[in-house]
Amino acid sequence: MMPEDRGWSGLSAKLVRLGRPADAEPGFVNPPVARGSTVLYENMDAMRARSAQRYEHALIYGAMGGPTQSLLEEAIAAIEGGRHTQVVSSGLAACTTPLLAFLGAGGHCLMPDSVYGPTRRFCDTLLRRLGVETTYYDPLIERSDLRALMRPTTQVLFAESPGSHSFEVQDVRMLAQVAHEHGAKLMLDNTWGIHVFQPFEHGVDVSIQALTKYPSGHADSVVGAITVVDQADWVVVRDAAVQIGQYASPDECWLTLRGLRTMGVRLERQSRSALVVARWLQERAEVARVLHPALPGSPGHAFWARDFNGASSLFGVEFKPKFSASAVEDMVAALAVFSLGASWGGYESLALPTTGIISRAASRRQPDIGDGGPALRLHVGLESPEDLIADLDGGLAVLRAASA
Ligand SMILES: Cc1ncc(COP(=O)(O)O)c(C=O)c1O
Repeated sequence: MMPEDRGWSGLSAKLVRLGRPADAEPGFVNPPVARGSTVLYENMDAMRARSAQRYEHALIYGAMGGPTQSLLEEAIAAIEGGRHTQVVSSGLAACTTPLLAFLGAGGHCLMPDSVYGPTRRFCDTLLRRLGVETTYYDPLIERSDLRALMRPTTQVLFAESPGSHSFEVQDVRMLAQVAHEHGAKLMLDNTWGIHVFQPFEHGVDVSIQALTKYPSGHADSVVGAITVVDQADWVVVRDAAVQIGQYASPDECWLTLRGLRTMGVRLERQSRSALVVARWLQERAEVARVLHPALPGSPGHAFWARDFNGASSLFGVEFKPKFSASAVEDMVAALAVFSLGASWGGYESLALPTTGIISRAASRRQPDIGDGGPALRLHVGLESPEDLIADLDGGLAVLRAASA
């Protein structure tokens, strides 16, 4: 079995049953959407007793979450291999809420240079204003260099593996060891690696999912999840989420639960198609490099081969420097099967020019990232690989013509 195919057996059997209430009335397969704000209690004793259960997904107060949210939380905790999950309003909120929870004034945070742009902006603006300093590190940093960046005040080491634009797979085991040696928490944005990377087996303390992507899967809902294994970490995360009023609506959670049922077949199909398309692109004369974690030569591929059970369907393409960024934009405009869009993980294929985002990282260990030509990020959906390749073939003709 190829490493990219290891991860799919058993997934759908699990997804069919996760987050289904044992006592569902009237016995429908799917749970209903439970909407509500006010929770009624029989008396003050009952109110006090329930309020004491705020870390147990008890129905206490609408904004703290209800039964539909809890079912999604159970399902995500199981997929991530964690013990407790908190759903929040978006994937970005799933990044920012634990950062707020574990960092304080005078604290220090280490962020990979490849991190999702809005997470970076949160560090550079709001966290800075709150007195937290952020240092960006090369996502492929080595142990001794990382140790040199750790400070007595470092509270969080953050990772995003692979980076969602430049696709470096990180050595998460090493990051966990260094973080823990220094008493810091390791947080991982595991959105790309849902199911195929088991964060807690590699020492991660807090795993983050933009459920908006593959779990939701239909480009029609926005939700995030924060998962932990440790009870003390859970208290910190849950308290922060409740205090800042983090809330995911039951409708969004229900849509995400519904999306999860087919995530196994979608991921398997999309992952395979993405590899077919990525390998085809590798052979094209216009292409300098394909940034796909499962392909040898992609940055951090050895960590992918060691730690992952498969791949998702988002990857990058760098063109040769003789092609201009505007020619790539002409190419994208000519595509008919791929649409232009940023939020990925749905059933549809997307193409997004990413030249500026990748070249910002020129100081990294991988000197060839950003030194090549313009870049494109592709998200492969459920369309057939033949149709996607024919579309890209036509797009490459436009790229050549626009650069002639
Ligand atoms: C890696 C990663 N993390 C987090 C997010 C944020 O997710 P959301 O769109 O739900 O806020 C995204 C969105 O693109 C992402 O790519």
